[in-house]
Amino acid sequence: MSSDSELCILRAMDKILIHPATELYFGCNVLHKIHELCHGHRMCVIADEAVKHLVQPTLTIPSGEKSKTREMKQKLEDQLFQAGFGRDTVIVAVGGGVTTDLVGFVASTYMRGVPLILVPTTLLAMVDASIGGKNGVDTPFGKNLVGTFYPPKAIVADLDTLKTLPERELANGRAEIFKMKLIWDASIEPEDVLKAMKAKIAVVEKDPKESGLRRILNFGHTIGHAIELVANFEIPHGEAVMIGCAAESWLSQHFGYLKTAIPFPKVHWKFDRKKLHQAMMHDKKKAKGEVRVVCIDRIGHAMEFDGQYCRAVSEQDLEACFAYMEKTYG
Ligand code: GLY
Repeated sequence: MSSDSELCILRAMDKILIHPATELYFGCNVLHKIHELCHGHRMCVIADEAVKHLVQPTLTIPSGEKSKTREMKQKLEDQLFQAGFGRDTVIVAVGGGVTTDLVGFVASTYMRGVPLILVPTTLLAMVDASIGGKNGVDTPFGKNLVGTFYPPKAIVADLDTLKTLPERELANGRAEIFKMKLIWDASIEPEDVLKAMKAKIAVVEKDPKESGLRRILNFGHTIGHAIELVANFEIPHGEAVMIGCAAESWLSQHFGYLKTAIPFPKVHWKFDRKKLHQAMMHDKKKAKGEVRVVCIDRIGHAMEFDGQYCRAVSEQDLEACFAYMEKTYG
C-alpha cells in the first residue's frame, strides 16, 4: 500500500526524503551524517547514558522510562540555558524511544522550537518512536500525556547501533514490524526494517495528527497496553504487543472479518480478567464508555469503519476474547 513515489527515494538505503520536511538517512555507518546536517549551527547532542560511547554527547540522560518526566525536561532546558544555547542550536537526540520522545519535546519548545535530529539506537525507536513527529513525557496521570507533534529535520538510523542490543530489546522492535505487516504491507518480513519504517511513514503522512487512519498503528495496543499496565510494565513491550495482536486478530476473526486464524508465538501469561478490563478503559480510542479496537480483514489490511479505523467491542465479545486468551496463554 505504501508507494515509493510518495516518499521520493533519492538513493536506496542511503537518504530518503519524508514529505514534507524530514530526511531519513538509513544504513550502516551513517552516524557521520549528524555533523554534516548540523553544519553552520551549534550542535547540542543529548544521549541516553547507555549509548554515549557512540557520540560525544553534550548532555546525557539516565536510561529508562523514569527519565521521561516534566522534571527531566525542565532540567535539560536549564542545562541548555546555562550553557548558552540559543536559537542557532540544532538538538540531536541519541537513544531509544524514551530519549527521542523526551528530547523531541525539549526541542519543540526550547526558544519556541529549534531544529531536531533524531538518532534512534533501538529497533523499536527506529520503526516506531522516531517516525511521525509525536513526542512527550509521562505524568502521574498516565504515559505520554503532555507533548507536541514536532517533525524532526532528519532521522539518522544506523543499523550498526543495533548490533549490541539484547535479544529482548530486538524483540520489542520485531513486534512492531510484525504489526506493520498485519495492518499495512503483507510483504514485510521480520528483518525488513526500512520497509517497516516506510510503512509507518506512509500512514502518518496521510494522517499526521491521528484524526483517523493513524489509529491503525494502535492495532494490538488496546489489549497490549492494558497488559503492560496490569503487569506493572514488568512484561516487555514486544511481548505485550504480540499478545495484543493475537487477541485483536482473534476479535477480527470473531467479528467475521478475518477468514483464517493467524499463527502467533505461544507465551505463558496469566491474567486477571477484571484488572485487564479496567486497564482497557484507559485506552485513548475509547468512545461513549466503550472499548474500541482496530480490526484487520486480511494480513496487510486494517479496516476503515467510516473513517474511524476502529470499532466498538461489546462486553460479551470482550469476555469471549478474554476466554480465548485464558485458553491460549493461561
Ligand atoms: N506509536 C503510534 C503512533 O506513532 O501513532
